[in-house]
Amino acid sequence: MEYKELNGDIRKEFPILNNSGAVYLDSAATTQKPSSVLESVGRYYLEDNANPLRGIYDLSVKATDDYEDARQAVADFINAKSASEIIFTRNATESLNLAAFSYGQSVLTPCDEIIVSTAEHHSNLLPWQTVAGITGAKVSFFDPEPDGSFDLNKLESMISDRTKIVAITHVSNVTGRINDIKTIAALAHKRGAVCVVDAAQSVAHLKTDVRDTDVDFLAFSGHKMYAPMGIGVLYVKENIAKDMPPFLYGGEMIDKVTKLSALYAPAPRKFEAGTVNVGGAVGLKSAIEFINAYGFEQIISLENSLSALAVDGIKKIPGAQIIGGDKACNHHGIVAFRIEGVHPHDVAQIFADENICVRAGHHCAEPLHKYFADISGEKVTSSTRMSVGIYNTKEDVEKFLGVLSEIRERMGY
Ligand code: ALA
Repeated sequence: MEYKELNGDIRKEFPILNNSGAVYLDSAATTQKPSSVLESVGRYYLEDNANPLRGIYDLSVKATDDYEDARQAVADFINAKSASEIIFTRNATESLNLAAFSYGQSVLTPCDEIIVSTAEHHSNLLPWQTVAGITGAKVSFFDPEPDGSFDLNKLESMISDRTKIVAITHVSNVTGRINDIKTIAALAHKRGAVCVVDAAQSVAHLKTDVRDTDVDFLAFSGHKMYAPMGIGVLYVKENIAKDMPPFLYGGEMIDKVTKLSALYAPAPRKFEAGTVNVGGAVGLKSAIEFINAYGFEQIISLENSLSALAVDGIKKIPGAQIIGGDKACNHHGIVAFRIEGVHPHDVAQIFADENICVRAGHHCAEPLHKYFADISGEKVTSSTRMSVGIYNTKEDVEKFLGVLSEIRERMGY
């Protein structure tokens, strides 16, 4: 396949970059959207919109076709065996809640254990914490090493016959570390557990292959991969999804309803109650086409070179400390850091004053920040984070480093 060359021209596809004048370094929170995605959503509402799956008139049939085409595009994108393994949700958070409250709640007993890593986003922690509270199962934590890596021998020794679920992020939204989900899934399977992967920070940046990695569940959001907000995906292996109960109940997820009972539709329909987000699904398909036009080889090379430039620059700044260590090759597009004596919110405010968008706080990964603070003896349990996307340039990172190098001075040091 011939790919479009990835160079500075890509910025013309993102009018907001020019309109706002912002240096946008917060793609881990949400990406900007290219014109092609916005146009595809507009075209759907201008030409095809109706309630899908219900009508027999032309517009409803078109809306249904658009929705199912998007499902097939997602299946192809992550190499799922069948489009029926793709459930549309609102976002990765809803996908992980679906996995926890449908699968987890129906299989877990007080004798069972869920292993989650300490590096999880709250979305891949709180649903398990809650389901454990309901079922009596136990949540056990797998800690990363001080550099943010996972020692898989330690994980292997933790997994036992009691373990039913291993829930892990593919890429940390704080350190940018890539985890070896193929080996983690194999370790889980060896003891009869399933592997749930939070792919929110990876799908737009790495090739995802659910058949090669053999993960059982994979969750992600459209809005972190150049698609609109409000559309997300949960991939579930067919043989697991068929026995899972619905998560939400209502319209269009049934085969038959009586006053006292219901027969639910097969997956994925039994998980998609109510009117679905066709416009979002159309935008997601368009975002997949956008990513595929450039190809992951160019995307990875650009994004890694930009985060490496950031790491190399940050580590030269007095008082700067990078979360997860200062080896550039370990941070894939995401770099979180602290500046000694300056609160991360003040750091982010100084960037905001310069129209540079970065995020400050615990990035919905409070246990990970606490863990790093504890092992380093630090008191601050938050950080400032820069993260890149397909549209960022070397100049963006240089502007960021220029402002960062003045921060301590601006704060009176
Ligand atoms: N989950 C998003 C982040 O890490 C919002 O910033």
